[in-house]
Amino acid sequence: MHYDAIDNAHGLPNDPFKAIVAPRPIGWISSIAKNGVPNLAPYSFFNAISEKPHYIVIGSSGMKDSLTNIEATSEFVINLATYELREQVNISSARVAPDIDEFKLAGLTQAASRFIKAPRVKESPAALECKLFQIVPLPDDNGDARQWAIIGRVVGVYIDDRFIKDGRVDTAAMRPIARMGYSEYATVETAWRMRRPD
Ligand SMILES: Cc1cc2nc3c(=O)[nH]c(=O)nc-3n(C[C@H](O)[C@H](O)[C@H](O)COP(=O)(O)O)c2cc1C
Repeated sequence: MHYDAIDNAHGLPNDPFKAIVAPRPIGWISSIAKNGVPNLAPYSFFNAISEKPHYIVIGSSGMKDSLTNIEATSEFVINLATYELREQVNISSARVAPDIDEFKLAGLTQAASRFIKAPRVKESPAALECKLFQIVPLPDDNGDARQWAIIGRVVGVYIDDRFIKDGRVDTAAMRPIARMGYSEYATVETAWRMRRPD
């Protein structure tokens, strides 16, 4: 098949887009509301987009609590979503009112961040403390925006020392999970190496 993506004329029961852009890392976002209520939710429209300096991007499909909090406080944490924490990741995606603390809902512990006020997930082996750079509306054909790209600058990095071996982070040992299409996930459990040509 080869179809017009503006009309999205795929003719399949579900849009195959996310099954192609896969696996996508999951940014498990912790933030705090203006009134102090902590918030936690997974976002698979997420990736690193720059290394020097470190920038990341998140896609919000609709005006959700994470986006509201990030707009209000200009801060958030990206926690690493792992296979061990998969149930908690899923629970934290529940559609709940803004006054519900998803840390409590998922039975997780808040740990203080070092460079920002938003807490990280203590149980997660790695976290990126971020400050908001820019929120970019992504318009549809009518010029209306119901999707937003949130670009953040990483100002602090937490890594559980147990996963640093011989000066390198052992990504596969952390078993990060990633999202594919539909309800499918992938787990990073093995790594292989290939050097760029000189
Ligand atoms: C693995 C996973 C990935 C998700 N990725 C996104 C995403 O990239 N963007 C989005 O808007 N919602 C995404 N969702 C749905 C949000 O997690 C869900 O709407 C959540 O309630 C938002 O929480 P908030 O309102 O506290 O920000 C995802 C859900 C799951 C389970």
